[in-house]
Amino acid sequence: MGWALIAGGSKGIGYYIAEALAKRGYDILLVARNPEELSAAKTSLQDKFRIQVEILSCNLYQDEAVSEIVNFCNDKALEIKILCHAAGLGGARDFLSLPLEGLRNMVRVNIESAMALSLSLLPTLEKNAPAYILNVGSMAAFAPIPGKNIYSATKAGLLFFSYSLRYQLAEKNISVSCLCPGPVFTKPAIKDETIKQMGWIGNKMSVTPQTVGEIAVRDMLKGKMIIIPGKLASMISFLLRILPTGFAARILFKSGKQAKHEILTPA
Ligand SMILES: NC(=O)c1ccc[n+]([C@@H]2O[C@H](COP(=O)([O-])OP(=O)(O)OC[C@H]3O[C@@H](n4cnc5c(N)ncnc54)[C@H](OP(=O)(O)O)[C@@H]3O)[C@@H](O)[C@H]2O)c1
Repeated sequence: MGWALIAGGSKGIGYYIAEALAKRGYDILLVARNPEELSAAKTSLQDKFRIQVEILSCNLYQDEAVSEIVNFCNDKALEIKILCHAAGLGGARDFLSLPLEGLRNMVRVNIESAMALSLSLLPTLEKNAPAYILNVGSMAAFAPIPGKNIYSATKAGLLFFSYSLRYQLAEKNISVSCLCPGPVFTKPAIKDETIKQMGWIGNKMSVTPQTVGEIAVRDMLKGKMIIIPGKLASMISFLLRILPTGFAARILFKSGKQAKHEILTPA
């Protein structure tokens, strides 16, 4: 089937995207920083599927990361057919609570490295077409979130980038998709924060990382542009996209303030 490169594939959503691709017979290159987690992910994929797996430890914050990845693919003659950018950074701390370097890292990982990987791997993808690019965005792309300013801005940027790229690459037979999940409890902190911020609706909206990975790959291979796993997440995304931007931002600002108040005022 060819090779799929998953940046941010050692755990969480990226890992389950890797599983869904491995299930369909793709060989997998996983990229992330932590070498032990990469090795564990490789073992897990090889135990479950009869495919080849390569791992590369590198830090997407760094300028040289993308050329390291391209050189690795060229040295090993990996015929990359699918590029998935799942690495991303978010969380409770954002603009006005993170130092500049932390904010810069969020911009680098969430959008700059997606842009650089797409550009640098374009010749390989074109050679191996039909090919696919899957960028992992978020529902946060659909409205400005005061308090998560840079996260929502980078995810909106990634969504717009993916949209325009889709038109530019269509004639090269490269399909571009953007996965925009709602809450996915890949770690306890995400569950806690979601429930504090959105209450029961956040819990109801959540989808397991396994399901997200499977839906993402299924819809990417069908050539869908925006992929939103889960019925409730799709409905809320639709509302966010049709509401006036200022109105949506005001609602999200109020719900964020309410959540902070609850955190500061234990019952
Ligand atoms: N979880 C959610 O609720 C949710 C909702 C919507 C969208 N998303 C988006 O989905 C994506 C994955 O989220 P997740 O919850 O699955 O995250 P996760 O469990 O923390 O996994 C993130 C992956 O990216 C890698 N990574 C992070 N920083 C990196 C860096 N500087 N260089 C190279 N690799 C890096 C991590 O490995 P290392 O740490 O070893 O580098 C890991 O493989 C993100 O883009 C996130 O914004 C998540």
